[in-house]
Amino acid sequence: MELTSNEVTRRLGQKGYLDFEIPKGPDLVAEIKRLKKEKNAVLLAHYYQEAEIQELADYLGDSLYLAQAAEKVAAEMIVFAGVHFMAETAKIINPNKKVVLPDLNAGCSLADSCPPEDFKKFIDQYPGAQVVTYINCSAEIKALSSIVCTSSNAVRVIDSIPEGETIIFAPDKNLGRYLIKQTGRDMILWDGSCIVHEAFSFERIVSLAKEYPKAKFIAHPESESQVLEIADYIGSTSGLLNYVQQNSAQSFIVATEAGILHEMKKRCPQKTFIPAPVEDETCACSECAFMKLNTLEKLYLCMEHEKPEILLSQSLIEKAKQPIRRMLNLG
Ligand code: 13P
Ligand code: SF4
Repeated sequence: MELTSNEVTRRLGQKGYLDFEIPKGPDLVAEIKRLKKEKNAVLLAHYYQEAEIQELADYLGDSLYLAQAAEKVAAEMIVFAGVHFMAETAKIINPNKKVVLPDLNAGCSLADSCPPEDFKKFIDQYPGAQVVTYINCSAEIKALSSIVCTSSNAVRVIDSIPEGETIIFAPDKNLGRYLIKQTGRDMILWDGSCIVHEAFSFERIVSLAKEYPKAKFIAHPESESQVLEIADYIGSTSGLLNYVQQNSAQSFIVATEAGILHEMKKRCPQKTFIPAPVEDETCACSECAFMKLNTLEKLYLCMEHEKPEILLSQSLIEKAKQPIRRMLNLG
């Protein structure tokens, strides 16, 4: 497809993705592999992506691993199969690379719950407070933060703050409550949540656990307190994966986005993984609609045309980089 860059930009419009028709015939998997070589690109993917995208990834992991991987990329272009805040983080820590995301509308309810103007007013009420933000937030929020964390390293990040300091934690109130219990630190919480992890039904999980008495119940800390209280293990996506590999149980009820089951089944083909039930039986609520906006077709088009691209001002990059660097420096 030979197109002027104006046409490519026009097609992008408000949709957030390129809508060119892909001629029938090309094997998209083979084409994406070809484009990776031709464009000197690396593909970073989160465990919540479609299985076919996960299979194509050069780096597949949780938010922390992907941020660490993005920092080290030497190739020209980072193709991010994840959500917007993840691609933005990659751009902030490796700003000389071109970073593309198959669909710019792949957002996050947690990031959306924390508008920068409101957050600025909120933190201004607590002068001198340490502002710890979960990586699931916009670059503008990161720029207002003291240090960033992910679900993998949040306890370590909070423990690194001297005792006696006032701590604000944002934007996830569920993760925040869990961390208050884990660290024993009193924190001021922003009222945000993840639509996927809040959809799990406590009652239905309890009855499912009765049906499968030998199954371990495992949950991501973005889930509500009631759900976390009955979990055998709580952890980030990589933590959950390590747990199912190392634990001797043969079946697991899994309360996180359903995309992770692909890697769980791959690592433990002999074990059984049951997605935790959600409140509304008619909806696929344990799938993140934002993550699933990325498709193989959009991925191919985005690599072919090198758009949509993540673009940030130099001053925002400089401000947002410091709290991310503080996190990465903790190891
Ligand atoms: P982790 O993979 O870092 O556990 O994050 C989960 C998540 O919700 C990403 O959006
Ligand atoms: Fe955001 Fe939740 Fe989707 Fe993760 S699963 S990207 S936290 S909405």
